[in-house]
Amino acid sequence: MKIAIVVGTRPEIIKMSPVIRYCKDHKLDFFIIHTGQHYSYNLDKVLLEELGLPEARYHLEAGSGSHGRQTAVILDRIEEVLVKENPHIVLVQGDTNGVLAGALAASKLHIKVGHIEACLRSYDKLMPEEINRIIADHAADYLFAPTEDSKKNGLKENLPENRIFVTGNTIVDAVFQNIKLAEGREDIFSRLGAKKDEYILLTLHRQENVDDPNRLKEILHGLELLYRELGMNIIYPIHPRAQKMLKTFNLKLPEGLIMVPPTSFLDFLNLEKNAKLILTDSGGVQEEACILKVPCVTLRYNTERPETLSVGSNILAGTDPRKIVECSKMMIKTNRDWKNPFGNGQATEKIMGILLSSHLSK
Ligand code: UD1
Ligand code: UDP
Repeated sequence: MKIAIVVGTRPEIIKMSPVIRYCKDHKLDFFIIHTGQHYSYNLDKVLLEELGLPEARYHLEAGSGSHGRQTAVILDRIEEVLVKENPHIVLVQGDTNGVLAGALAASKLHIKVGHIEACLRSYDKLMPEEINRIIADHAADYLFAPTEDSKKNGLKENLPENRIFVTGNTIVDAVFQNIKLAEGREDIFSRLGAKKDEYILLTLHRQENVDDPNRLKEILHGLELLYRELGMNIIYPIHPRAQKMLKTFNLKLPEGLIMVPPTSFLDFLNLEKNAKLILTDSGGVQEEACILKVPCVTLRYNTERPETLSVGSNILAGTDPRKIVECSKMMIKTNRDWKNPFGNGQATEKIMGILLSSHLSK
C-alpha cells in the first residue's frame, strides 16, 4: 500500500508524527507532502527536527494568504503530486485548509482518503475550521474519530457507520512518546524566568479572537484582571497571527503577561505539565491539558472537544473579562482526577491496523 501523508501546520506535524514514525518503523511505502502553510522556523522546522521526521518528498510552498487563495494553491499543487504518485490512500489530519484541499483533490482523483481526527464539530460555521472538517469528513473513505461522541456527530450527518472508526486521538500517542524527554529539558524554566507551578500558560491565536480588535481587547483586559487578582505571571508563547494583529491594532500587552516566541513541542509540553492553569483557544492545547492533568480555561464560546468539558478538565469562559477571571479562579482549585477521554496512546496502531487489514483484504 502506497501512503501519502499530508502535513503543513504546527498541529498537523505534531499529531501526524506518530503516524509517520509508525510508517518509518514498519518500513511502509509512504511519502510526506508538506503544504507549506506554516513556514516560520518555530512553527515548522523546529518540530520536524525535534520529532525526527523524514524530509517531505514534496513541499508545496503555499505560504500565507486568504482562505480561498491558500486552499486553491494547495489544491492545485497537491493534485499534480497525486496524479504523479498515484498513492492508494491520502492521510490528512485535523481541520486546516490543507486538509480540505488534500481531501478534495484525492477524492476527485478516486484516491482513498483517511481523515484522522474526524467528526469533530463545534457547530459554529463562523470558524473556518468547521467548514474544513465537514467537507473533509464527507469526502473521506476512512473517518478516524477520536471518541464515541465524535462518531455520533458523523452519524447525525448520515456519514455511513462502516466508514467511522473510533481510534482515540494521535495526540495522546504524541504526548506519551515525548513527555519523558520533555520533562528532562529543565532549561526552558530558567530561560523564561518561570517557576514550576507558579505561572499560568496562555495560547491565543484563533482567527475569531485575534482578528477582531474588540474581542482581542476584551481578552487582554480579562488577562490584566486575572494578573491583578492572582499575582501570577501569564506566559504567552505567541503565534505569529496574534503578533501581527496586536501590531495592526496597536495594542499593548498588560502587566504580568509575558510574551515569548512559540516554543518547541518538547518545551511546550514541559510548560503545560508544570503550569498552574492553562488558558487557550487552541484545539490541541485543550486536549493536552486534559491528558497532562492540568486544568484548562478555554477562551471561546464553544468547543469541538466537548469531552474535556464532560470530564471536568476544561471550562468555556468565552471572552468576557470577568468570566475569564471567574472561570480561572474556579479551575485553579479543581481536583485533577479526571480520566483522559482521548485514548490510551494506541490511536496510531489502530488507524494503521485498520488501513493495512482493509488493503490486504482487497
Ligand atoms: C492555521 C489553521 C488553524 C490552526 C493553526 C495552527 C486554517 C484555516 N487555520 O491557522 O486551524 O489552529 O494554523 O497554528 O487552516 N504566519 C507566519 N508564519 C507562518 C505561518 C503563518 O508568520 O509560518 C502568519 C501570517 O501572517 C499569516 C498568519 O500567520 O497570515 C495566519 O496564518 P494561517 O496559516 O493563515 O492561519 P493560522 O492562524 O496559522
Ligand atoms: N505548541 C507548541 N509550541 C507553542 C504552542 C503550542 O509546540 O509555543 C503545540 C501544542 O503542544 C499543540 C499544538 O502546538 O500540540 C497546538 O497547535 P495550535 O494551537 O497552533 O493549533 P490548534 O490545535 O488550535 O489547531
